[in-house]
Amino acid sequence: MISLDNRPIGVFDSGLGGLTALRSLSRILPGEDIIYFGDTGRVPYGGRSRETIMKYARQDIAFLRSFDIKAVLAACGTVSTNGLDEIAARSDIPVFGVVEAAAAAAAAATRSGRIGVIGTKASIKSRAYDEAILALRPDARVVKNACPLFVPLVEAGKIGDADPVLDLVAREYLEPMKEARVDTLILGCTHFPIIAGTIGRIMGPEVRLVDTGAQTALRLARCLKENDMLSEKEEGGCHRYFVSDNPDSFREAAELFLGGSLRGEVRHISVDEL
Ligand code: DGL
Repeated sequence: MISLDNRPIGVFDSGLGGLTALRSLSRILPGEDIIYFGDTGRVPYGGRSRETIMKYARQDIAFLRSFDIKAVLAACGTVSTNGLDEIAARSDIPVFGVVEAAAAAAAAATRSGRIGVIGTKASIKSRAYDEAILALRPDARVVKNACPLFVPLVEAGKIGDADPVLDLVAREYLEPMKEARVDTLILGCTHFPIIAGTIGRIMGPEVRLVDTGAQTALRLARCLKENDMLSEKEEGGCHRYFVSDNPDSFREAAELFLGGSLRGEVRHISVDEL
């Protein structure tokens, strides 16, 4: 007999970026209830120390767990590359970071073995993406660049393909990737798929972009299915959003990126309560 699990899935990020994973997850599993936490009061995480990132990650997960969730998707490259493994190893529910699934997709997609990785400073410094890629494809050449300005640009809603500031910043950040002629580029921060239009245009159509959140959503869905942990609802899952700063600005930027209205309420939770 198949056992079903109607508890929600918890998804978190420092801000808006995790919505790229939530969007994929709700497309693959439309019946699942999802609780999203965006730590907008403390974004960005990417320039902070590993200790601070882990402290924030523990608080974010503890907040999500107050809802009796069945699994966690850490939809944040920075958290996933800075100690999430230690947190996951001690957890009694599945905790997924975005590195492994993205590395597997990139290793499978590359023809030349030249793989680019862009992310926050903390993610690039961690070498987590390099290690995960090289474990699967030891002959790969991994070219990396930290792109710290992308996160504030996305959070400020500067995401249009015609945006001149975004275009200028992106050209500079992507230059080493073009020079190394990578054929696959991991968008190693979940904020980056929001500006995939600009990144793809600059890199050219032959370069495959790997969306870390989308790949991880697929992996999480597979895990729930294999463990008979899917919800019995086939569609109409309920989504609830919590943010540690202004809910209205979050809704506004989220709707701009999603190209439609955000399904579900957005509530404020103070960082002091985490
Ligand atoms: N979306 C995040 C990531 O994937 C966080 C960016 C940040 O807070 O600096 O790294």
